[in-house]
Amino acid sequence: MSVDLTGFAAEYARHRAAEGRGHAGDELMALPYLRTGPLVRQWGVRVRSFEALMRDVVQPLTARQGRPLVVLDLGAGNGWLSWRLVREGHSAIALDIREDDVDGLGAAHALAARSAGRMRLCPGSFDAIPLASASVDLAVFNAALHYALDLSTVLAEAARVVRPGGRLAIVDSPFYAREADGLAMVAEKKAGAAQRFGDGASVLLAPPFIEFLTQERLALASALAWRRNRVLYPLWYEARPLVARLQGRRPPSRFDVWVSVRP
Ligand SMILES: C[S@@+](CC[C@H](N)C(=O)[O-])C[C@H]1O[C@@H](n2cnc3c(N)ncnc32)[C@H](O)[C@@H]1O
Repeated sequence: MSVDLTGFAAEYARHRAAEGRGHAGDELMALPYLRTGPLVRQWGVRVRSFEALMRDVVQPLTARQGRPLVVLDLGAGNGWLSWRLVREGHSAIALDIREDDVDGLGAAHALAARSAGRMRLCPGSFDAIPLASASVDLAVFNAALHYALDLSTVLAEAARVVRPGGRLAIVDSPFYAREADGLAMVAEKKAGAAQRFGDGASVLLAPPFIEFLTQERLALASALAWRRNRVLYPLWYEARPLVARLQGRRPPSRFDVWVSVRP
């Protein structure tokens, strides 16, 4: 699907700045371990996913390969995951359509500059990844796959650039057990958009992103087999389905780490 995301990218950067996501300096280098501010609770969830990714995917694959990995960080934003991987001895390629310095690749420059060449910034879209086939060990969508416009195309591209025996991972994208619950979330998001996003609402909502995932969507989009690594999140997060049921609301999404072996 050919959609111009330029207007979206600029508005998204404005929105992210307004949300307080312009992390820099020590704070950027410390991510996902954010200790202060209104986003601490959210990052507390992301820490759990990150640690599960490292423990259940990165470390076993490293042991299997017997060498540090080359990891493609898809929708990398400010590149915090790439930086974490570099600190663990791996090489990382941070790919994103945004180059702004709020939390696009512009912000990631400060990290890449300290990486001794092991963190590369790659402006581009994950539906046409500007890398050679079979050139990375692991491709990670970090809070990003729900921005796909065409899930089949994006997964095919990620699979193309991963070496046979390598891994694809989906981290921190909202998964629903039922399609209907995801569609209800999208409808709620649209209904509340003006209040939540202000003047930028129409631009932010214009691209037809997939917005959420289900196991069925993954199965229909590609022949890749996915395994869910269930993550133990903070109690408040784990309690959300129960709270929603008690309040008569639809079931919430959850993240977890989804992994596929590249055949
Ligand atoms: C929620 S942010 C996540 C950023 C970062 N990975 C993190 O975990 O904090 C989603 C990112 O996906 C990027 N993105 C959206 N569509 C994309 C595309 N087609 N190709 C590459 N990146 C994309 C956005 O620019 C944004 O930086």
